[in-house]
Amino acid sequence: MAKEQTFSIIKPNAVKKNVIGPILTIFEKNGLKVAAAKLTKIPKEKCEEFYAEHKARPFFSELVAFMTSGPVLLMVLSGENAIAKNREVMGATDPKKAAPGTIRALYADSMGENAVHGSDSPSSAEREIHLFFDKSEIVNL
Ligand code: CMP
Repeated sequence: MAKEQTFSIIKPNAVKKNVIGPILTIFEKNGLKVAAAKLTKIPKEKCEEFYAEHKARPFFSELVAFMTSGPVLLMVLSGENAIAKNREVMGATDPKKAAPGTIRALYADSMGENAVHGSDSPSSAEREIHLFFDKSEIVNL
């Protein structure tokens, strides 16, 4: 296994529910370390760029409206096999299909308001991290 970095967002519904702490605890218990973090509201244009691959989907405008509706916690997570590990602890995109104990099973409200985002591949992780973080803002863990 290799040490990797992945990009994570705690989405507006989870921030509103005040469950940043419990979500971070799940990451930390699973060997993921916070290497960078920013609590911010994503500007609309930046959010459209972030989700560009979904532009043609019927839920795109709803997704952007939700993701820009309130503060989010943007993070770089670091650890062994971090990309797959993060996806495992998040659970399936659709919370009805998420395994018990996963973040989405615990804190998602719907497919759209699914509490967390995590990169799905090394190339996505690289692109997403650098869309929101400068190299100098990331701690080398
Ligand atoms: P995320 O991991 O942030 O990546 C893209 C997001 O689109 C996904 O999580 C969901 O929140 C959202 N999404 C995917 N499919 C649907 C859908 N059918 N309806 C609404 N939102 C969706």
